Amino acid sequence: MSSQNRTNIPNSLNEHWMPFSDNKSFKKNPRLIVEAKGVYITNHEGKKMIDGSSGLFCNPLGHGRREITEAVSKQLEKLDYCQPFNQGFGGSFELASRIAKKTPGDLNKIFYTICGSTAVETAIKIAVAYHKAKGHGHRFKFIGRERGYHGVNIGGMTVGGMVNNIKAFASILMPGVHHMRHTHLPEHKFVKGQPETGAEMAEDLERLATNFGGENIAACIVEPIAGSTGTLIPPKGYLKRLREICDKHGILLIFDEVITGWGRTGSAFGAIEYGVTPDIMTMAKATTNGVIPMGVVAVKDGIYDAITDASSAPEGAPELFHGYTYSGIPAAVAAALAVQDIFDKEDIFKRAKELSPYFLDGLFSLKDISCVTSIRGYGMMGGIDIQMKDKPGKAGFQTFKHCYDAGVNFKSTGDTLIIAPQFICEKKHIDEIIEKLRTGISNYAKS
Ligand SMILES: Cc1ncc(COP(=O)(O)O)c(C=O)c1O
Repeated sequence: MSSQNRTNIPNSLNEHWMPFSDNKSFKKNPRLIVEAKGVYITNHEGKKMIDGSSGLFCNPLGHGRREITEAVSKQLEKLDYCQPFNQGFGGSFELASRIAKKTPGDLNKIFYTICGSTAVETAIKIAVAYHKAKGHGHRFKFIGRERGYHGVNIGGMTVGGMVNNIKAFASILMPGVHHMRHTHLPEHKFVKGQPETGAEMAEDLERLATNFGGENIAACIVEPIAGSTGTLIPPKGYLKRLREICDKHGILLIFDEVITGWGRTGSAFGAIEYGVTPDIMTMAKATTNGVIPMGVVAVKDGIYDAITDASSAPEGAPELFHGYTYSGIPAAVAAALAVQDIFDKEDIFKRAKELSPYFLDGLFSLKDISCVTSIRGYGMMGGIDIQMKDKPGKAGFQTFKHCYDAGVNFKSTGDTLIIAPQFICEKKHIDEIIEKLRTGISNYAKS
């Protein structure tokens, strides 16, 4: 195939094994995207759709941002790659300072990874290394939460709580992991914002600490808002209580902000929005507006100091035996720096916060559609549960297809639609997303 016709349907769809996809049905009826600009994407049939989920929560600044494209291309012409081990380039240090200025508290040490999954794996290893450095090598247990999603690598998959992801690989899970129950209670149906009830679900952590010994637990990891299982908003007081229990037992608190990071809640991070500072925080996705893979782990100064001070390695040997060939590569750093510029210039988190009530009102206006069984939302993210027709887990994708035909694209999971508009949306774009969702969901209900 020549480069000219790469935007059309390729001669063969057989060889590409697509991730998290129903490969067989996709290949019978492909949905290829050939162009993306601003809030719109266009498929191979020339159909223009509004992007209702910022890709996979990746592009809050809109598609095709010239500032990012130009920054990356300039960087590639000057320095395309340099090895990140015992070497570096100025950009990654500048970016780390700029990220550290936006993270809360003393989360000032920045470790680069390749994506969200590798950020989580890194956070897990840093937690283990920290306790070892403090002489607490017995702290090896991790606490995750049901319905959490922390990527697909062994550690992240194990601490995650998405049943299908775990079941398939039950034989190779990380040892020493236990789960708290999720916080989504029956009375949270159609609750806008943070539910008033459910803070007591945090006591699951206290129970696990009692059962297994808090002194044996390395860290507890949660998403401030569970994103991939359909936007589960933390009950009021829940995250604060987790922080208190972690402090009581010397357990590190890790916030996985791969989705909630960079403005999705209306603040730079969920940690800031909910006033709870973790010890380690992961981010990815919007860090580069989705255009080049990059993950980031922000770590408290004290954790970095403990690990680097404890090292007795000879000069030139790493203090932490961990890192990636693509940790903080120049093109990703250039994209992330351009994104930081846009965040600052356009006061983008404020924009997200101001747009949120309009978006949430629109989202909750879909309540009257017969097959909608619950709606949740916070900031610029929402979840809509759809009544299943035959088997559980199919309604989300079936509805997605009707919505795609109606002209709005988003992510579905199980029986839930995940809506996460771009922050650059104007009110008319939110109206368009909601109107097309109404058409698509109603058509699913009638089908
Ligand atoms: C909270 C969270 N953590 C980790 C990940 C994994 O990120 P990636 O797909 O970039 O590996 C995701 C992806 O959606 C996520 O939502």
